[in-house]
Amino acid sequence: MTKVITYGTFDLFHEGHYRLLQRAKELGDYLIVGVTTEEYDQARGKLNVMDSLMTRIENVKKSGFADEVLIESSPGQKALDIQKYQIDIFTVGSDWAGQFDYLKEYCKVVYLERTKNISSTMLRAQRASICRIGMIGTGRIAERFIPEAKLVSGINTEAVYNPHLESGRRFAKRWEIDAYESLEDFCEAVDAVYIAAPHETHYQYIRSALKHGKHVLCEKPMALRKSQAEELFEYAKEQGLILFEGIKTAYCPGFTRLLGIACSGMIGTIRNVEACFTKLENPSHRELTDERYGGSFTELGSYVMLPIIKLLGSQYQELRFECIRGKNGLDLFTKAFFTYPEGMGTATCGLGVKSEGRLVVSGTLGYIVVEAPWWKTAYFEVHHENPQDVEKFSERFLGDGLRYEISDFLSMINGNSRSEYKLTRGDSTALAGVMERFLEVEGRG
Ligand code: CTP
Repeated sequence: MTKVITYGTFDLFHEGHYRLLQRAKELGDYLIVGVTTEEYDQARGKLNVMDSLMTRIENVKKSGFADEVLIESSPGQKALDIQKYQIDIFTVGSDWAGQFDYLKEYCKVVYLERTKNISSTMLRAQRASICRIGMIGTGRIAERFIPEAKLVSGINTEAVYNPHLESGRRFAKRWEIDAYESLEDFCEAVDAVYIAAPHETHYQYIRSALKHGKHVLCEKPMALRKSQAEELFEYAKEQGLILFEGIKTAYCPGFTRLLGIACSGMIGTIRNVEACFTKLENPSHRELTDERYGGSFTELGSYVMLPIIKLLGSQYQELRFECIRGKNGLDLFTKAFFTYPEGMGTATCGLGVKSEGRLVVSGTLGYIVVEAPWWKTAYFEVHHENPQDVEKFSERFLGDGLRYEISDFLSMINGNSRSEYKLTRGDSTALAGVMERFLEVEGRG
């Protein structure tokens, strides 16, 4: 019996896939089809697959050519599968010609001619027209956004608005996009808005963008008052628009995996979460000179609160802050203490004090530790009582990581809400509630 194997994503199953499977089957007697997991596709930069793994498997099965389906979840798996299943022929489309020649060591490699004028990429583009996004703000984070957005197909950065016209124009020139002088004209020119302006402007900008019928991705902290966050989410819902808070950690594959493992019981019941993120900031920058909205907590608090709110929830009993302040009264180093009926959390951040940036999640059976930069989670360990008993987990974290939140934002706009759980309306509202309390106790409410 001649055994044949082939692999693919098989998103939005199309004629090209059908013909490939048909010819693959004809090469032998028994056909095994490997279908990629979402995580594997994400890791290799395919960020916008639309069909779920189950749907893609179902479609491969429905073609009637696959005798067996397996899941492809990591690079290097092909060579192992070929040996394990005693494969005679490996085949893929000619778009991969030459790339799998290394498998000739194990079996025959056949590149089948690709069907012309059809691909999942083409179908995805047809289904969802390109989303034109515009940015408000031209600071350092805005600079990182454009190259990351370029890596997500289906979204195009086209416009920028900055009330400081000269900055807007300079930014537009550098990135070859259009600068607008009026917020109205800017909103009219785009489908979605990314807000990377100073914190205190977020509320008004989000309202304006939603009023113009635009989806919004807003940098953290999205709102500085709980009632504002609630109002904005409600308004977005009424308008049928997506409102997303951009805390990149929440959308990165390593962090979502960590949350899954923390909740799986592997470390027992979670009792303590400690997160620290410090970044020595130039004292002349806005973050350390804006006496009303600057300081370490408004700047970095969203990151360090995120694992606490995700793992212990928003129903804390007590919330207390301790700060070390600079001469102008702004917090250079802050600790927020969360007390729950059966757990606690400490969120530590600093702009003028440097510390070890670590995340530790402690449970009744063990703990998870992620070293800096845990906010770009790529690797973490699970420890137990026996120090030898350590499990290691790693995930890709590509580039600046903004591509993950941009990709999830786009999926939501296109009607695929599978990533909504990563940072919910409730999470963002709770985070805004803590920010509000902090500014109140600091006398800046
Ligand atoms: N394939 C093909 N003809 C096409 C499209 C795909 O023969 N027109 C083959 C690929 O070469 C591969 C298999 O189908 O062997 C699965 O490909 P996959 O990457 O899932 O499909 P694409 O349409 O190429 O997807 P994308 O556009 O996302 O790259």
